[in-house]
Amino acid sequence: MAVAPSVDELKKLTGYKAVDDYVKSGMVVGLGTGSTAAFAVERLGQKLSSGELSDIVAIPTSIRTKEQAESLGIPLVQLDTHPVLDVAIDGADEVDPDLNLVKGRGGALLREKMVEVQAKKFIVIVDESKLVDGLGISGAMPVEVTPFCYQFNLDRLLNLPSIKGCTAKLRMDADKPYVTDNDNYIVDLFFDTPIKDAALAASEIRSLVGIVEHGLFLGMSSAVIIAGKDGVYVKE
Ligand code: 5RP
Repeated sequence: MAVAPSVDELKKLTGYKAVDDYVKSGMVVGLGTGSTAAFAVERLGQKLSSGELSDIVAIPTSIRTKEQAESLGIPLVQLDTHPVLDVAIDGADEVDPDLNLVKGRGGALLREKMVEVQAKKFIVIVDESKLVDGLGISGAMPVEVTPFCYQFNLDRLLNLPSIKGCTAKLRMDADKPYVTDNDNYIVDLFFDTPIKDAALAASEIRSLVGIVEHGLFLGMSSAVIIAGKDGVYVKE
């Protein structure tokens, strides 16, 4: 009897496929953050060192990914000099039927969004467990906030009409607030039912001064590569 692939094996399948199918020599590539994206970075490193790909430059979306890419000899650049990317590849925490996403449970949402919104193609790589009927239902919807008066930020989030009834928690790292790569804090929002109007929630959250970014990635995905028990497939 065939043994079902582990979640890590599924993540690897999607990460490798994203690089194999969407990255060509000469491209500017956005490198996502997280355990799934790490497999795409690994594959890119392999293909550069074997010579199968060349003239690639990449933009990492976190310090973690930057360190992984550097360890694999992937040439890195920044948005300042390369404001348009050919492709960006990243994981996600939730994918809805319209390919909208929740991202940022790994804490890298700001740099991820800055890089991925600049990509001509944004390829999302997930195992089937990330598919949801509506956003906000499987866990936290992260919001990056300024540390200055974070409790004030948190209270105002809780009062937004579009997300009324959610609960909010400052993300902690042991006994201290979790600090992002941008020296901000994260407030995790939790919902009992999917967010009714994610576009409205996104615009209300963004309208608050002091909120840096949120984990709703709406209308950004070009394709989602999904790995599950029946194999790997692509939704566009
Ligand atoms: C990090 C992210 C990640 O892409 C997301 O959390 C998925 O991570 P993983 O592939 O480890 O499940 O948004 O901020």
